[in-house]
Amino acid sequence: MLVEKLTQTVSYIQSQSALRPQVGIILGSGLGSFSSQIQTEVSIPYKDIPHFSVPSIEGHRGHLLLGHVGKTPVACLQGRIHYYEGHSIASVAYPTRTLAALGIKTLLVTNAAGGLQLNMEPGDLMIIKDHINLMGTNPLIGANEASLGPRFPDMTEAYPLELQDKMEHFLRIHKIPYHKGVYCALTGPTYETPAEVNYIKLLGGSAVGMSTVPEVIVANHMGIKVCGVSCITNKAAGISKHKLSHDEVTETAKKVEAQFIAFVKDFVASLSSVQ
Ligand code: HPA
Repeated sequence: MLVEKLTQTVSYIQSQSALRPQVGIILGSGLGSFSSQIQTEVSIPYKDIPHFSVPSIEGHRGHLLLGHVGKTPVACLQGRIHYYEGHSIASVAYPTRTLAALGIKTLLVTNAAGGLQLNMEPGDLMIIKDHINLMGTNPLIGANEASLGPRFPDMTEAYPLELQDKMEHFLRIHKIPYHKGVYCALTGPTYETPAEVNYIKLLGGSAVGMSTVPEVIVANHMGIKVCGVSCITNKAAGISKHKLSHDEVTETAKKVEAQFIAFVKDFVASLSSVQ
């Protein structure tokens, strides 16, 4: 069933453009303006794409862009849907499966996250080394499609080191303050309590958010190499002296936008030779 759905989705997208993307990009909260750096061939609203759900959250626009960043052919999800919006965990991951079915080899995931380490300041970036799934579910639950990937995917190198090193190289070139750490995903939509933040710290989390993990799981399932970067938009609850709001998240993301865009552009352009 999933395979048939993907075939329909892919054939619709391919009817809109002959471009064959090598790299997929998922733009998180407030980071959607990176799309201005893509020489866009076609921008397809999610509502027109068979089997896609439409995001309801401000800061998430809901377009699939096909185009180039430098010489790299890319497919970019401008806006993601979240589990807390009420979609099934499989539908949250479906756009990522679509990128994989379109033929990408590498996926760059971005998100906004709360920082747990005391040395993290709003506006810093964090290379995702690994993740902890605290969403209480998994997008691979249910029958496995053997043609897409294995029943029990290995997650030892969910974010391959060579891509982390490459991101680090470009962050240094752009003189952007960054950390490397473990992204921990909860369902939201509440932000965490200070006690939950302590618990996540004890577990080994460096940053906390409400996305990304479902997408990274299905990408790994389908053999795609993943790299991830979090924009630390705020200190996590209890570490921050004030209450958290979505406005703070999008405002901080806006502040680092120019740096973020420059870094992602060079990084993605450099992936043209990684096939
Ligand atoms: N917690 C969860 N998700 C988030 C946060 C946070 O502090 N900041 C941005 N997304």
